[in-house]
Amino acid sequence: MSENASHRHADFRALGPVDRWLADAQNGLVTVFGRPHAERANPADPEPEVVLDESARRHAAGLMRINHVGEVCAQALYFGQAAVARDPETRAHLLAAAQEETDHLAWCAERLDELESRPSLLNPLWYAGSHAIGVLAGLRGDGWNLGFVVETERQVEAHLQEHLETLPAEDLRSRKILQVMKEDEARHADHAEAAGARILPRPVAGVMSLASRLMKTVAYRV
Ligand SMILES: [Fe+2]
Ligand SMILES: [Fe+2]
Repeated sequence: MSENASHRHADFRALGPVDRWLADAQNGLVTVFGRPHAERANPADPEPEVVLDESARRHAAGLMRINHVGEVCAQALYFGQAAVARDPETRAHLLAAAQEETDHLAWCAERLDELESRPSLLNPLWYAGSHAIGVLAGLRGDGWNLGFVVETERQVEAHLQEHLETLPAEDLRSRKILQVMKEDEARHADHAEAAGARILPRPVAGVMSLASRLMKTVAYRV
């Protein structure tokens, strides 16, 4: 993590409970209504922009809107979990992962702009729902917290793979972004596993997968 990146969360780690909730709320507002900044260069930078035909452009924009929502949800989950995590190490782990998700969020937003589209209008709703889930997971204890990270990251990794297969072939800029995101998500899952994640009960994983399918169907359009 760069010095700047760690700065965004360093204060959060040292705060008391009330201030931590305030910082959490502020993170939420920036994620949903602000323009988060990436710490790393956009992986699409080396690829030239090509003009996509209208249906390819709309399809690519729909997929990138889904990915943007996925990153909004990741921020919400991690901040929600971090707000109630008991172990400072687990909290640090969650916030470090959240920082890389901020890069993803910024890259997806930039790509949506380039595709002359916009993020989901329902982002406040996606954020609120995911944050509540994150808090609930966090309250169950740190093993659950990390288990949630593993399940979320594995599901995101799988849908990124799906998107890489269905993106218009000529949309190399979106592709480059999704490739780096996929590598990052796999690493987030591996780290959480190594940090002592417990395996979530099947029904919980099933509900998460159902919720993400609903999100993808809606976010492709709205
Ligand atoms: Fe991500
Ligand atoms: Fe991730």
